[in-house]
Amino acid sequence: MDNMKQDKTKVSIIMPTYNESENIIQVLKSIGEHLPEDIATEALVVDDNSPDGTGRIVEDYINDTQNGIGYAIEVIHRKSKSGLSSAILDGIQHSSGEIIVIMDSDFSHPPKIIPQLVEEIETSKCDIVIASRFVPGGVINGWSTKRKLISKTAKGIAKAGLGVNESDPMSGFFAFKRKILEGIKFDAIGYKMLLEILVKAKDAKVKEIPYTFTDRTRGSSKLDSSTMFDYVKSVWKLYRHGREAKVSDTRTSIRFISKAGRFYTVGASGLLVNYIISLLFADAIIDFWYIHATIIGIAVSMSSNFILNKIWTFEDRNFEVKKTLAQYGKFVGFSSLGALIQLGMVYILVDNYQFVYSIALILAVIIAASSNFIFNKKWTFKEKVWS
Ligand code: GDD
Ligand code: MN
Repeated sequence: MDNMKQDKTKVSIIMPTYNESENIIQVLKSIGEHLPEDIATEALVVDDNSPDGTGRIVEDYINDTQNGIGYAIEVIHRKSKSGLSSAILDGIQHSSGEIIVIMDSDFSHPPKIIPQLVEEIETSKCDIVIASRFVPGGVINGWSTKRKLISKTAKGIAKAGLGVNESDPMSGFFAFKRKILEGIKFDAIGYKMLLEILVKAKDAKVKEIPYTFTDRTRGSSKLDSSTMFDYVKSVWKLYRHGREAKVSDTRTSIRFISKAGRFYTVGASGLLVNYIISLLFADAIIDFWYIHATIIGIAVSMSSNFILNKIWTFEDRNFEVKKTLAQYGKFVGFSSLGALIQLGMVYILVDNYQFVYSIALILAVIIAASSNFIFNKKWTFKEKVWS
């Protein structure tokens, strides 16, 4: 029986491949030569149906060596090229180690660094250890000035936009504890998995150790202009993620008041819309009967109120037709209810309690408007009242 299989896997090495037939076996061998024997390790090669047969070559290699290589290797075959980060994420989901190592399969990332990464995770109190090209001792071999400039720009964007201060947040070579991913949802767009982890696992302790990056000598890089576009997209998403996290940090009272403020601003804009539309239809465009013009004014302003409240006040961007129509129905319902409450209150206050009409009106408007806000918050947009 194979010893490796009995131990619980401790370290999972995730290795995405796309057309790495000239590199992958050498890299796997080299990993085997550098791994300490007492740590149960698995490598997961995540292949995107490489046209050069990378996936099959690894399968053959596994069968030939019958695990004689000293650690477990497995291939995850995906249907088609779906991006580096998403390959990494798939690998993580299939893996079982409590420590995860991510690395490229083209020999840019020297396997001899893996034991150092693992040891740092185990002995220092760090959750993420990055193999960095930019801490003292780190080196880049074989990159053109243009490629260095692209990397520098990407790093600058991450620092300015996301406040990421690590020296090499673009590294594709790093290790981390599986448990830091708990509860995190990933977008996994493009190349920058580490950046997304750094932003979303924001309490994790990070350490960087130097290494020498040597650009591949075989095969070709898959980085192209769409990768750069993906980068901008992912930074934008991470930026929004950061802002949302901040919003939920602010005090409930402030958020409640800010929402109420937006709701009543929308309400005021609705009065204006109502007024203008009614006048347009009654006079300017065609001579509608003034009752019809008023109805059109009400309908248009209710709709504009609904849309503004949905997008702006309650920040709900889900425009699925059925859901939106149901919300619209409730919104109209509660608005009408608000009008009824106002009417009823004025009547009771003036008639039964001898209030002056102007005071009664103010009170009624306040009550109707508040219940309107609360009802819509709770039932139309499904938020907690106090949130
Ligand atoms: N499964 C899969 N799917 N693998 C992919 C895909 C994909 O869509 N795209 C790339 N890969 C694999 C490659 O086969 C390689 O093993 C690794 O991901 C990195 O791809 P390269 O094309 O060699 O990227 P690079 O050298 O330009 O950039 C790498 O190194 C930089 C420096 O560390 C990446 O790791 C960058 O993220 C990193 O900044
Ligand atoms: Mn590479």
